[in-house]
Amino acid sequence: MKKLFIANWKMQLTPTEAEKLARSFVSTFKNVSNELVVCPDFLSIATLSKIFKSSAISLGAQDASAFERGAYTGEVAASDLAYLGVKYAIVGHSERRNCMEESDKLIAGKIKAVTAEKLTPVLCVGENAAERKQGKAASVIRGQLRGAFKSLPGKNLRSIVIAYEPIWAIGTGVNCDPLTAVRMKTIISDWCQRAGMKKTSILYGGSVKADNAASFLGTAGFDGLLVGGASLDAQSFKNIVNAKSN
Ligand code: 13P
Repeated sequence: MKKLFIANWKMQLTPTEAEKLARSFVSTFKNVSNELVVCPDFLSIATLSKIFKSSAISLGAQDASAFERGAYTGEVAASDLAYLGVKYAIVGHSERRNCMEESDKLIAGKIKAVTAEKLTPVLCVGENAAERKQGKAASVIRGQLRGAFKSLPGKNLRSIVIAYEPIWAIGTGVNCDPLTAVRMKTIISDWCQRAGMKKTSILYGGSVKADNAASFLGTAGFDGLLVGGASLDAQSFKNIVNAKSN
């Protein structure tokens, strides 16, 4: 079964560096049996759209506006992303929830907007360290799911990707242990099933590296991985993609 590997380059690269890394991805991933997605920042999307055009790599965005075209200074419309060949849009990443104070209501609007343009939303959910310590991880995740699908009932979604990304595991070098991650995956998939969602893929993200990737993909059963730091080098991302067969 095909797995989905998403590289989230965040705001780590200049446009020149993003272009160089994209070319390196194209030459590194010639024959791939999995689905590979690269999410650069908005400025690099038009350039990477051309670079990835006849490659095995799909393009994703790190965000999208909840609004359609109009007077929304600084926003990027999902329709423009679709026009440039973007297939996926990350929505509700914890860095946006925390640094940009994105609310569940805004996230729900973004899911609706990207879905209307036939982009697949990649909804990120995850608890912080204090919430986990207080035994609230499951209720936090359920709350985020409820909030995200308020404007668009799950049964109306064509397909959705949900990434379990515990905040305390992002960029820390400390990944969630696979057994705990599987428990959270079950909570997510049960919720999605009850909401009537048909096609749901569940990914893990948070300090994914080549040496821990296989533990999430094997018996843990995640449908793929959302990778930050380790996706900033084509070979290190390839080692993660190849870890699947371990
Ligand atoms: P790291 O892989 O750097 O921990 O980042 C994970 C992440 O936030 C991907 O969206």
